[in-house]
This record gives sequence, structure tokens and C-alpha cells, in this order.
Amino acid sequence: MFNNDGQLANMNMADYLERIGTGLILSNHDVFNFDFVPPSLVGRNEAQRKIASLFSGIENHSKSCRAVITGPVGSGKTALVKTFCRDITRHLNDIREIRTIHVNCRNANTASSIVQRIVQSLDPGHPDRGLGMGELLTSIRRMIRRQQAHLILTLDEVDHLLRRSGDDLLYKLLRIDEDQSETGTLSLILISQEQILDFLETAVISRIGGSHHLKLHGYTYDGLIEIVKQRAELGLKKGSFSHSTLQLIAEAAEPSGDARQVIEILEGAAKCAEEEGRTHLNDSDVQRTASNIPSQFHEPQLESLPLHACLMLIGICRRLKKEESVTSGEIEKLYHVVCEEFEEKPKGYTTLWKYTKKASDSGIIFTRTDHIGEGRGRTQHITIPHMLPKDLEEKILPIINKLKRK
Ligand SMILES: Nc1ncnc2c1ncn2[C@@H]1O[C@H](COP(=O)(O)OP(=O)(O)OP(=O)(O)O)[C@@H](O)[C@H]1O
Ligand SMILES: [Mg+2]
Repeated sequence: MFNNDGQLANMNMADYLERIGTGLILSNHDVFNFDFVPPSLVGRNEAQRKIASLFSGIENHSKSCRAVITGPVGSGKTALVKTFCRDITRHLNDIREIRTIHVNCRNANTASSIVQRIVQSLDPGHPDRGLGMGELLTSIRRMIRRQQAHLILTLDEVDHLLRRSGDDLLYKLLRIDEDQSETGTLSLILISQEQILDFLETAVISRIGGSHHLKLHGYTYDGLIEIVKQRAELGLKKGSFSHSTLQLIAEAAEPSGDARQVIEILEGAAKCAEEEGRTHLNDSDVQRTASNIPSQFHEPQLESLPLHACLMLIGICRRLKKEESVTSGEIEKLYHVVCEEFEEKPKGYTTLWKYTKKASDSGIIFTRTDHIGEGRGRTQHITIPHMLPKDLEEKILPIINKLKRK
């Protein structure tokens, strides 16, 4: 008896671990890691040109540069700087020896912990215990010069340092070559989600220079689709996904403009499909995954919809249970069918158009405009990226019943 139970338990165990590492869809897990640096940035040409221009002259041995990068969550600040540091190091190979250090101030938010990290990465065996800030900074300078190198130091999420310890360390780093015969020891890049210039004292601002500020904006749909396409090509098996599924992912993340969201949804959806033993991603994998991430769409917004907007959404949901998207031209017909079922007189086209816009503005549906050929007009495609159409339908039906009882 005991043995049989044991065997059964073992079999269940094997069964439940079965899907791990099957690689039905995911071919490279590393590209979904938090600190993965993509081989190239997509859709950020202008920002790349701007950061390069902030570093113009960096090939000269006496030159130091500075940059402040700000932007909302997931706008690619860290990725921009990490790819830049990697590329510039390669680009200047044979011309100038570049060392790069990236410190996240969320984890090291005091001046001394940051300085200790720098020392440790320049010389892992350095006996830094007991040394004061001044001595540590002198050691850093000495090590860089001894290695005949130039250090590009990035302080990421620097607002954590500024809040906790002020800008004294920045001031000292910016003055590291003061009163020295040789200059060009260290370049500084500061990254923050917030406008950090407000936190800095005038002395620091004047050393950084107001024109060294690069502001990133959240990604639009076009940027997100490029990013998710690149990540899918790097991390998923060929032929395991279709372009329209990637479009749905970009649509789900569009309200936030956060690149991390498309990557998380892609990985989550791939796992969802693998769990079910499939070798191809489908739209419901995306909708299921996206429904678990925060979006601007909150369910209470449904409660505030007028009856006929709900009827229109039911028509859309029913079509989307079978199709990838529905065009604006089809909505009217679908809505009429639902009106008949609920014995309601249909509203006119203008009202319907207003409801589509309202549902789109509140993030319930997503509207993508495709241009078909030159001068041949535009078609709007409607999708529901954030949840399964069947779940949305189930949420709306009781609202319709409530509104009809009124
Ligand atoms: N242009 C891009 N091309 C390719 N991948 C990108 C691009 N922008 C961002 N990513 C990827 O999106 C994810 C989020 O980007 P990143 O970490 O750089 O955002 P961030 O602005 O630093 O966000 P946070 O404010 O939360 O630190 C990363 O995995 C990054 O590699
Ligand atoms: Mg970052």
C-alpha cells in the first residue's frame, strides 16, 4: 500500500515537472533575464545619436563627459546606457582603453557603498576597509590612471542616492581631476525615472551642464512592436509565433509605454502555451498573461458604460472569440445582432463611433489603424489585448441585465 502510494506520488511528481525545459517554444531563457542587454536597441536611433553626441571627443585621452538620462519606467534608459557603454568600448578599442562600471543606487544608496563597489570592480582584492571617502576616491583615480584607462561610471536610479545622501558624492566625482596634472579620468552618466536636476545643487548642475540632459519618452506602439519582435526572434523557436500575436502584445503594453511589459507578456504567454503542451503561441495565451499585469483598464470602468456601449462590446467579444481582430466596419453589423437578441432599438452610427472611442480611451479595447495601399483609405482593427474576450463578455452580461432592469 505504502509502496504503491509512493510510486503514485513519484509519477505525479514526474508528471508535474514534465513541462520544464521541454523547449516547445522557449529556446533561450537568458533573453528574458532582468539584466539581459539586447544585441542592439530598436527604435531608439535619435536617443542613441544624442548620447553619442554627448560623448563626442571621448577618444581624446584628456577628455571626460557627462550625461543625465531621464524617462518613465521601462523607457529603455538602462538598456540605452548599457548598449552605449558596450558599443563605445568596442568602438574605441586600440584608441582609448575604456572601463565601464554600472552601479544601481537602489541597492547601493549611500556614498560609501557606491564608492566601495567602484573600488571592488576596479580591483577585487583592494583592502578598502577602514579607508575614508577621500582616500577611496584617491585610490580609484590612481587605479584608473595606473591601468591607463578611462572610466565611464553609470549611477543608475541615482534618485535613491540623492534622497538618502545628497549630491556630495557626485560633486566629488565630477572634481576627481581637479588640481591634478592629468585630466580625463572619469565620465559620469546619471540615470533616473524622475527629473533629477531639481535635486541637484547649482554647483553640481553647472558641472554637469543643463544641455547634457537626455529625456526619453515612454514607447509608442511602433517601438513596442519592434522590441517584442526582436525578443521573440532571440528567445523563441522559429515558427512558434505569428506577427499578429506580437501585435496583440504590443497593444496590451501600449497604455503603459513600458518595454518591460511586452517582454514579460511574451515570456508569460510562451510559458502558458508550453504548459498546455503546445508548440505555437496564440492570442489567448497573451490575453491570459496580460490580464495579470497592471494596466490602465480597471474593471469599475465597465460599470460606468451606457447600455448600448455594453451591447456593442458584446458583439466585439463574440467575434473576437473566433477571430484575431474585428474591423470598425464590422462592428455595426455585430452590434445590430446583439440589439436584436436583447430587444433593443439600435443607435445610429455616430453614437456607435462615440462608444468605440470611449471604450478605446478607457483601455477596454485597442484600436489599430492599418493603411491599405496608397490613397485607398484606412481600416481600423479592434482587439482586446488585456483579457480573454469570453471573460470580458461574462463581466458585461450582468451589467447589461442590471441596466435593462432599471
Ligand atoms: N529600444 C530597445 N530595444 C530593445 N530592447 C529594449 C529597448 N528598450 C528597452 N528594452 C528592453 O526593455 C526592458 C526594459 O528596459 P530598461 O530596463 O532599459 O528600462 P528603464 O527605463 O531602465 O526602466 P526603469 O526605470 O524601471 O529602470 C529591458 O529588458 C530592455 O532590454
Ligand atoms: Mg533602469
